Amino acid sequence: MKIGFYDSGLGGIKTLKDIIDMGLKEEIYFLADEKNKPYGTKTPEEVKKIAIANVQKLVDLGCEIVVVACNTATSVAIKDLREKYSQIKIIGTEPAVKLAVKEHTNKKILVIATTVTVHGEKLHKLINSLDAEEKIELLATDNLVKLVEDENFANNQKEVNKYIFDFLKPYNLKEYSHIILGCTHFPIVKENIQEIVKDYGIKVIDGNEGIGKNLLNKISEYKKTNVEIKDESKFQIKIINTAPSKAFEKRTNEILQKLPKENILFLENIS
Ligand code: DGL
Repeated sequence: MKIGFYDSGLGGIKTLKDIIDMGLKEEIYFLADEKNKPYGTKTPEEVKKIAIANVQKLVDLGCEIVVVACNTATSVAIKDLREKYSQIKIIGTEPAVKLAVKEHTNKKILVIATTVTVHGEKLHKLINSLDAEEKIELLATDNLVKLVEDENFANNQKEVNKYIFDFLKPYNLKEYSHIILGCTHFPIVKENIQEIVKDYGIKVIDGNEGIGKNLLNKISEYKKTNVEIKDESKFQIKIINTAPSKAFEKRTNEILQKLPKENILFLENIS
């Protein structure tokens, strides 16, 4: 079956890679909206409009399930997307706050995300519903998205580590039990963050496993209830970028490493 993935860029590629490692083997359309990146510094209205236009493209391609592999787009558009495309399943991405709160430590939880997500009503509602306002601190770091997207990311590790070190500096890390990666770009630097906080026993968590479980369940439910539909699709990742570039292809191949090249296809942009 056809599964759509959508993000402003490389973050969703990492989400996809983690879910492939969990067993995803379908015909995948990945829409990277690099023309409009970064989303985190746009207005919520702009992000919502862009998200609807992009999910429409995946629906037009015949995707039966779409994963909005972007916290920022989920934050402002998931409700509208589910209303508008009620004929398909839409899976969103939200900071794994519940998971951290469930662990009941008496320490604090730091959520790092984009400006739109940090100020969005959705995250504040989630925190209120968990009665966790006192425990949780929010930090917007849009520049980290830029660093992760950089063509020379692999050679810029010193600069990336320094940036992470500097933004964590104002925090007394002894007081924290978890850092939650509330932007899908940040799992790409999860190990960098983990290394920097390793002496404090802080758990760094992202939502990719949760999204993966949700998606794999939805796929098996779909197949059980649609046994009459013959599924002839084979495992392939078809990547569409709204602003194609060699840099994006290089970074995508780095993130999808070890996957056979014949499974990855970079398509022309579609309007
Ligand atoms: N990957 C996206 C997220 O999860 C946003 C990155 C951007 O600012 O474009 O929030």
